[in-house]
Amino acid sequence: MDRASDLAAALVARGGPRLPVVEWPVSIDSTSNRLKSLARGGAAEWTVVLADVQTGGRGREGRTWVSPPGGLYLSVLLRPRFEKVALLPLAAGVAVAEAAGELGVRTELKWPNDVLASGRKLAGILSEAASGAAGVDWVALGIGVNVSQDAASLPPEMRADVTSLVAEGAQEPSVGAVAVAVLARLAVGYDALRSGTGTVLSAWRSHAAAWWGSLVDVRAGETALRGRLLEVDGEGALVLELEGGERRRLLSGEVRRVRRAAGT
Ligand code: BTN
Repeated sequence: MDRASDLAAALVARGGPRLPVVEWPVSIDSTSNRLKSLARGGAAEWTVVLADVQTGGRGREGRTWVSPPGGLYLSVLLRPRFEKVALLPLAAGVAVAEAAGELGVRTELKWPNDVLASGRKLAGILSEAASGAAGVDWVALGIGVNVSQDAASLPPEMRADVTSLVAEGAQEPSVGAVAVAVLARLAVGYDALRSGTGTVLSAWRSHAAAWWGSLVDVRAGETALRGRLLEVDGEGALVLELEGGERRRLLSGEVRRVRRAAGT
């Protein structure tokens, strides 16, 4: 068997879903680009694309996702038939946090789905979707996990902000094993979303960085806001209290905690 078939078999062995297609080339521009083209061609849900290296890895908000060897670069296709699709990226964050936990690595989730360890970025999730007349047609979840990258393979300006499973003490995890753990956990969250949002939301909240009540800056496209972080509501939106008391719900954006100098 090749490594793609091994991965599919290991996932079934742990009670996970059967993957109709697994592509795992050594190098690709972006696993999400490839998955989206498969989705447009009618691929079935749980089609998975991985790669050892991405030459054009994409992050949220138009950023680049630097993708040297030693990382997990995985995209998975879902075709949800339920309404609360906005919670899927949160379910993916929970899946990565739980998979890291299996390896003894403690993580925190930063809304919407950054996975942090020791305050540094361990993993990120890019959720892209297409809709038709009947609602959401497909969702491509792109998951990047820093498994064992050598810090020297990252640009110097990134090194202080990034960590990996190995740097956090995981014992020689293989990329394939991490992929299986993430997909198995994601399947549990996906099933739970069919019957309601409570399970995924409470799992997300239990892993969330305890920033509630803190002053944060949020950038969402061209919009920049500052306010107190109140909650993540039942639809997965971030609720901020702006200076002046107005409440604002945000469906996407980048959150940074405001650290004020002592005495200000
Ligand atoms: C983020 O900005 O935090 C999201 C990063 C998502 C990166 C993953 S790696 C696999 C998939 N392919 C991509 O090009 N991006 C996602």
